[in-house]
Amino acid sequence: MGGHDGPEYAHVAEFKAGSSVMQIAVDSAIPGIDGDCGGECACGTCHVIVTNEWFSKTGTPGNEEEQMLSMTPERASTSRLGCQVVLTDEMDGMTVHLPEFQM
Ligand code: FES
Repeated sequence: MGGHDGPEYAHVAEFKAGSSVMQIAVDSAIPGIDGDCGGECACGTCHVIVTNEWFSKTGTPGNEEEQMLSMTPERASTSRLGCQVVLTDEMDGMTVHLPEFQM
């Protein structure tokens, strides 16, 4: 997971299929992802920007996620809510970046 300041702030989190990106970040105490709503797609504090090469593997944002993302500062074309991206074995090694500001 890349911090917003570049690779020198990169965090490496243990890969766990079946967990969400948000859950892993919170469990690993990675700063920049709060997950205030506990993964209910209701707070927008788990915004991550997926790197282009991994984006297609993360699926498509649902309606609620899309609404939440539309209110997110720094929304990018590969933005996702970390709580809505559930890791599968195919995503081992995925890199995501954190926005400078969460909601
Ligand atoms: S944890 Fe609240 S929207 Fe993802």
